[in-house]
Amino acid sequence: MNLFDVITQRRSHRGTFQERMIETDDLEKLIEAARWTPSPFNVQPWELVLIQETEGKSALADLTERAIIAQFKDANFLDDNSRWMRLTEKEWQEQGDGVLLSEHVTLPKPLQNAPEKLLQELLKNAKSFTLLGHLGAGKIPAKEIALQVREAPLLMLVTMNCKRYPPGDGGTRWMWLSMGMLIQNILLAATALDIGVQFVSAPLERSVDREQIRQRFNIPIFHEVITLLRLGYIEKETGNSVRLPTSEFVHFEKIK
Ligand SMILES: Cc1cc2nc3c(=O)[nH]c(=O)nc-3n(C[C@H](O)[C@H](O)[C@H](O)COP(=O)(O)O)c2cc1C
Repeated sequence: MNLFDVITQRRSHRGTFQERMIETDDLEKLIEAARWTPSPFNVQPWELVLIQETEGKSALADLTERAIIAQFKDANFLDDNSRWMRLTEKEWQEQGDGVLLSEHVTLPKPLQNAPEKLLQELLKNAKSFTLLGHLGAGKIPAKEIALQVREAPLLMLVTMNCKRYPPGDGGTRWMWLSMGMLIQNILLAATALDIGVQFVSAPLERSVDREQIRQRFNIPIFHEVITLLRLGYIEKETGNSVRLPTSEFVHFEKIK
């Protein structure tokens, strides 16, 4: 695959993985891709925690499950999410942004075949989903995603060592940029190796969960836990994706 194909064919992988571990050679390539990330003043603020053993995976899976159940009871969180949820493939393609609801959440049975109009109304009043959340609706997606975390061949916690900050008032800002580049390097290298990657953000949304992760994995207090990735060899291609047309975000000379 040439680089342009890797960039445009990378997808967030939300499906299952092959059961085998990531081969040592491939793991080294992912790490090497991360190592060559640019950073301000070459401070290289990243540290990676690779989790391949059951206990660590279970701890993260349990946290993920609890976090998602809590999210489903949080009216503001649901309301905020609903802005970016697209109900049908057609709507998603036309809009060119957001995510497909069915790819992110398995709805409770009675809603699975509900008419689009009803779902649209529910999304408009996403706060009402908290009622379902309190009745336990969050447990289904929480269990599903937790299982995916538990069964992933490799989990990777990406942290930023805040002691390695560059000079200047904007230091932290440039460090965060650099962390994004590191993650993209890993995603692209993984794509080239047929390794699927998914961000698992739920257990990092709340500071209380981040703190638990920090303690469980011995991450120093001066590190920021940036993201959790699940990785494995792709079993079958999943996931379509959409983007806005270039005319929506490219401006020549100035923004009109
Ligand atoms: C910072 C960040 C956090 C994300 N968190 C999640 C997540 O928790 N779960 C998930 O399935 N995808 C997550 N994604 C993936 C996005 O949903 C995805 O990149 C977007 O929908 C475009 O799809 P694509 O990556 O397949 O092109 C995240 C992506 C980024 C950059």
